[in-house]
Amino acid sequence: MVILMLRFVLRFLLPLAFLSVAALTALAQPQDTEQRITALMQQMTLEEKIGQLNILSGETQATGPVTFGGDHATEIRAGRTGSMLNVVGVNSTRQYQQLAMQSRLKIPLLFGQDVIHGYLTTFPIPLAEAASWDLPAIQRSARVAATEAASAGIHWTFAPMVDIARDPRWGRVMEGAGEDTYLGSRIAEARVHGFQGAKLGDLDAIMACAKHFAAYGAAVGGRDYNSVDMSERQLLETYLPPFKAAADAGAATFMNSFNDLNGVPATGNKHLQRDILKGSWGFSGFVVSDWGSMGEMVSHGYVKDEKAAAKASITAGSDMDMESRVYSKHLAALVNEGQVSMAQVDDAVRRVLRKKFELGLFDDPFRFADPAREKATLGKLEFRQAAREMAAKSIVLLKSDGKTLPLSPKLKTIAFIGPMVKPIKGNRGGWAVSVPGYDTDSQIVSQWQGVAERAQANGTKVLYAKGAEMMGFDRSGFAEAVRVARQADVVVVSVGESWDWSAEAKSRSDISLPGVQEELVKALHATGKPLVVLLNAGRPMVFPWIADHVSNLAYTWWLGSEAGHAMADVLWGDHNPSARLPISFPRSVGQIPVYYNHYNTGRPAVDGKQENFKSGYIDSPNAPRFAFGHGLSYTKFAYSGLKLSQTKLHAGDVLSVSLQVSNTGARAGDEVVQLYLRDKVASVVRPVKELKDFQRVHLAPGERKTLSFQVDREKLSFFNDQLQWGAEPGDFDLMVGAASDDIRLVGEFELLD
Ligand code: BGC
Repeated sequence: MVILMLRFVLRFLLPLAFLSVAALTALAQPQDTEQRITALMQQMTLEEKIGQLNILSGETQATGPVTFGGDHATEIRAGRTGSMLNVVGVNSTRQYQQLAMQSRLKIPLLFGQDVIHGYLTTFPIPLAEAASWDLPAIQRSARVAATEAASAGIHWTFAPMVDIARDPRWGRVMEGAGEDTYLGSRIAEARVHGFQGAKLGDLDAIMACAKHFAAYGAAVGGRDYNSVDMSERQLLETYLPPFKAAADAGAATFMNSFNDLNGVPATGNKHLQRDILKGSWGFSGFVVSDWGSMGEMVSHGYVKDEKAAAKASITAGSDMDMESRVYSKHLAALVNEGQVSMAQVDDAVRRVLRKKFELGLFDDPFRFADPAREKATLGKLEFRQAAREMAAKSIVLLKSDGKTLPLSPKLKTIAFIGPMVKPIKGNRGGWAVSVPGYDTDSQIVSQWQGVAERAQANGTKVLYAKGAEMMGFDRSGFAEAVRVARQADVVVVSVGESWDWSAEAKSRSDISLPGVQEELVKALHATGKPLVVLLNAGRPMVFPWIADHVSNLAYTWWLGSEAGHAMADVLWGDHNPSARLPISFPRSVGQIPVYYNHYNTGRPAVDGKQENFKSGYIDSPNAPRFAFGHGLSYTKFAYSGLKLSQTKLHAGDVLSVSLQVSNTGARAGDEVVQLYLRDKVASVVRPVKELKDFQRVHLAPGERKTLSFQVDREKLSFFNDQLQWGAEPGDFDLMVGAASDDIRLVGEFELLD
């Protein structure tokens, strides 16, 4: 009997001692992480391992079609889910974490959330922030979002979205950094650094997730979830670099995507996930699927059933199943049948556990669940100030007559007209988080509030008329709007698309200004009053009449919590605009895709010339209505003195480029100086220009500064005809300017070897 009991103790109770979190945390040094993971994994059943590869959406909100009908608490206690999304706030996350602590191994849950542009303090939508071309400011915005989210129990954001997007019909264009690979890569780094802070494990750091891997932004026709067909060169050269930049910046996780890429769904794409991401790039984090994307491989016609979907996903390197439930249903059987190796499952589990260790959750599963910290952190004044500055930095001045804006403090009356003026909620834009315990609308400064406050401070009276709804054909408000406009010295009109017309599943086939808003602007323009139009949208829109006839135009996107203040800051010139378009604005939907770094073709058309047998349209110029990099200021800048350190470069040489920029106007301002290159002849044709660097420079009136850029071999490199990365000898054009269509200085150099 004693022997039997001893056997029982040795066999069952002793190992249990090793299962305790306390025992595991005794090995608390980072260098021991892998050992600790190994020790833990030795105790895990296959079912528990699969649980770590499963993320479950909370009960109250869903960001996709819900497939789970079971009981969340039971799943968690049984160790069948290792992560959750859509559970926010310290109270809720703590409750779920307590359930995890009732599971056999007490492995803490990870809480992920779409913290896309702020948590409680909402920043401008990501595309708007990208328009700032201000990397430190973008990083700070992600930092604030992380600080707030981490204080509210969140460990992980599903951001940044680093998909290059050249098609404004695609609703998700609002979540990214626009069309350019170089700008997109720098912004990807800034956002990853911002979210992850100094290091994972700090109480103000959350894991970043570079998404959607890959090429999701190239969905055919701009239709969400649609197929992507692209050459390997295009993929390597244009679409993957921002992901590589995010990985190099230390992004803890990646999310794959819904689309198929050349016929293979990204979620089942071994080439993308195993060869490139985990192979050549050496990514040590984990890959989460997109919502339901494993199961959707059945609809794609790539696998015959969910079991095959599970097999294809794990084989391809998708580590975590978001809401398909195919791992929980089928992975154990696949392993038991020898169709999936235990090593593959273990690798995925190890990747997930590693992040939980790095976040310090094994040391204290509740370390992000402190109600006092949450209360003290959310909505801090300094965060709101950062949001206001970021919002002002995101507004792009598209056109200016040089006299109406900034508004004079001496104006007696302005009319503020349009369907966007009074609404509050819309200013937060898509993907704003509903924070429990807060009336999130009351956190927002409406356009009316911001403008009216600022006007009042100057003793300027503000009149209001709605004029029209955003949608529909009701023109009955026009007369009142015109009557109000006639009483004012300046008319400011705020129009646009509804905030929920962009983001996921919000593709549009017609990206013009909805309803009768353009007609409203025409009616106000006809009054002859000085007119300023503010355009609110989550994407580039097409607004030909306004673009041609209105002399003062600002693109405000969706600006977040401080929208109204930021608009006032720009309207009155407290902030001198310096934003630049991160994406081309087409003249018409028919021009899409239109992007600045296109090839020259064999029959290049000269815009404005109607020549037969050229690569142009018979009914439209090729150039977009507003080009990539375009954006005005209330002052003017002059460029001069371009100097190249050498005009012949040997391998290993770094070209130094210098130039002077002067502020020739009467106000201080920031100029975003852009450097483009063109490789004139190569083994594969190269774009007419490619952004390779940029600098923001602040200049007082009359001030002149010398800027210098370094052009190294990397900047001259591309994927050659063998898809090998490198530079080829030959001639290059170097262009420096204020926009892709506003080149001020040009030079040439030759790469000799
Ligand atoms: C989106 C992801 C998002 C996820 C979780 C999906 O539908 O494509 O970008 O992170 O839902 O909300």
